[in-house]
Amino acid sequence: MDEPLLLAIAILGGTGKEGKGLAYRWAKAGYRVLIGSRSSEKAVKAASEIMQLLEGSSSVVGTTNPEAARGAEIVVVTVPYSAHRETLESVKDALQGKLLVDVTAPLVPPKVSKVQMPAAGSAAQEAKEILGEGVEVVAAFQNVSHELLLGDEEVECDVLVTGTSKKARAEVLTLVEAAGLTGWDAGPIENSVVVEGLTSVLININKQYGSTYAGIKITGAQSK
Ligand SMILES: NC(=O)c1ccc[n+]([C@@H]2O[C@H](COP(=O)([O-])OP(=O)(O)OC[C@H]3O[C@@H](n4cnc5c(N)ncnc54)[C@H](OP(=O)(O)O)[C@@H]3O)[C@@H](O)[C@H]2O)c1
Repeated sequence: MDEPLLLAIAILGGTGKEGKGLAYRWAKAGYRVLIGSRSSEKAVKAASEIMQLLEGSSSVVGTTNPEAARGAEIVVVTVPYSAHRETLESVKDALQGKLLVDVTAPLVPPKVSKVQMPAAGSAAQEAKEILGEGVEVVAAFQNVSHELLLGDEEVECDVLVTGTSKKARAEVLTLVEAAGLTGWDAGPIENSVVVEGLTSVLININKQYGSTYAGIKITGAQSK
């Protein structure tokens, strides 16, 4: 008998660069993935592209952002910061009682290599303000380039996981591991300021050194 599929993960904006890469890795690990979009046609197309890469052996479906959020236990948001608030407000009700994984780096074009944090402190803290007490918010993956995700190669970049509770962070560390990366519990959601800000530092390094996917690695500790 086939192994049962794991939990369902919705990826809001999963039609984009970062979301598609995460969808590929989680679907490959056995999770049911719901790709969310403003357009269900666009989501269906993205889901079918991922299924083709996986040769049909997994479960990836495309739908609207609210439908995806309703259908999953864990909801991941991978939209540009300019669309962050609007996207979260559109799924606020569906998210109550669930876990949100916020991948957003609050970049403000055109100066994306300069740290410009929002008034709430970070995008993840802003998500918590928008969604309220009923939603656990965990920030993760901000420092991993999409170029590393849509494939099977080992990813050298580590993932710092911050969030509203240790239990929620532990749940997301399981997802990091399922995606084939090394994750670290980096503490409370307030610490997401540093992690989200690091993305601009890495973009700056990419610009200055001709790279496209500079990342980070924790040394001197042993990941569990
Ligand atoms: N790209 C990376 O390497 C990388 C690395 C780490 C973190 N991140 C973070 O991940 C997030 C997504 O990055 P990305 O590069 O994947 O972005 P993207 O490809 O430009 O956009 C992702 C998706 O967001 C939705 N979207 C775009 N503009 C929107 C708008 N105005 N209103 C509502 N939805 C909109 C689109 O989905 P629909 O049109 O289907 O609705 C789009 O496919 C960002 O916050 C970024 O900081 C990215």
